[in-house]
Amino acid sequence: MSWNNQVFGQAKKQINGIFVNIQDYVANASERMTDMNIECPDVINEKELKSILDYRSKVKGICEVLTRDHMKVAFFGRTSNGKSTVVNAMLGDKVLPSGIGHTTNCFLQVEGSQTGEAYLVTEGSKEKQNVESVSHLAHALNYEKQLNEKELVHVYWPKDKCGLLRDDVALVDSPGVDVTPHLDDWIDAHCIDADVFVLVANAESTLMITEKNFFHKVSSKLSKPNIFILNNRWDASANEPEFLDQFNSQEQVRKQHMERATDFLVKELKVCTAEEAASRVFFISAKEVLQARVQERKGLAPNSGALAEGFITRYKEFEEFEHKFEECISKSAIKTKFLNHSQQGKHLIDEICKIMETIFKRSLEQTKIKGAQKKEYQEKLNFTNQQLENLTNMLKIKIRNVTDDVEDKVSKALNDEIRRLYVLV
Ligand code: GTP
Ligand code: MG
Repeated sequence: MSWNNQVFGQAKKQINGIFVNIQDYVANASERMTDMNIECPDVINEKELKSILDYRSKVKGICEVLTRDHMKVAFFGRTSNGKSTVVNAMLGDKVLPSGIGHTTNCFLQVEGSQTGEAYLVTEGSKEKQNVESVSHLAHALNYEKQLNEKELVHVYWPKDKCGLLRDDVALVDSPGVDVTPHLDDWIDAHCIDADVFVLVANAESTLMITEKNFFHKVSSKLSKPNIFILNNRWDASANEPEFLDQFNSQEQVRKQHMERATDFLVKELKVCTAEEAASRVFFISAKEVLQARVQERKGLAPNSGALAEGFITRYKEFEEFEHKFEECISKSAIKTKFLNHSQQGKHLIDEICKIMETIFKRSLEQTKIKGAQKKEYQEKLNFTNQQLENLTNMLKIKIRNVTDDVEDKVSKALNDEIRRLYVLV
């Protein structure tokens, strides 16, 4: 796994760990304070108790969001360019139906299944429909005649079968951009919260107006979306007899596609620099990669089977795309998701610490005032003081250290981003 994915994985693990800790401490604190409110009502007032209970439910809410949170990557392009095949190649298995003609007829979001089973859930329904095979899935999707192209079907796939799903990345496949007049609806429904977009183009032709229009609309609604362009079906170029002619070589076609794709990203959409475009545009064969990965799953050599010349180079280029993709999604995750949660976490800790310190001071005062009173009450207060001190210290030192660590990572990612934007201006 790449370095960046490890950073993403670590940061995600850490932030989840931090919130589990916060949840434990806040639960512990609120239970003690509820008891103390009954035992020593002059040390803790109702307002403070209510605040702590509110924070407890807030922390619980954030923990739930964190476990639900995923990064979303959406695949677009014309019909039959190979969108579903690219998704399958990244998953390393034939998960989504693919084929000639118009195959994908609605939006399909593949994400990790918590239960280890494969199943699908259609929009508006809670029913889990088991998925045994790709043909079974294709049948289930066709059977749902009432599905319209804008609808979203969730496909849950076992996490242990794919590293991306383990890292909570959701892959969204779409129908061809050329089959709908409702691009705006699509964008509002499925693109606003996407972290990365992948345009699957056909290397045998060129970028089409419909594909360009779609991404113009996307970038008018989102500020600087992360876009990759995959020139798919690059294997076909290896068999092209025209390329025997030195004036019309495969290299020249690559150069032409590269220039057009770079102009599109840099000059038209203005989403990256020319330098960055080099790591945003790739020439691949999703069909070959999928075939190789399916062979590997069966314990066979990846290059067994009929393959066009240059397979290894294309396979490596696909891996290079995956590497850059992971890097991009990690940065985006740290910036958009973790920063927000870590700031909220810090704010909560500060507020809880303030309340705890006020109670602690009041409790010390009470100890002095009631010094002459019964030994039993004295012991209760001493015990309370000790507990409060421990909890406050734990919150302050332990949790703050880890949040600082996550913030370091976040600010590093942000600095990289600022540098990137600075170069763009
Ligand atoms: P729709 O869902 O209909 O919009 O199509 P799609 O973009 O999802 O294309 P799909 O993945 O279904 O692929 C269409 C056909 O192209 C299938 O027969 C694939 O096997 C084939 N195909 C996909 N990628 C490649 C590739 O890299 N090289 C070659 N030669 N064929 C490919
Ligand atoms: Mg498809």
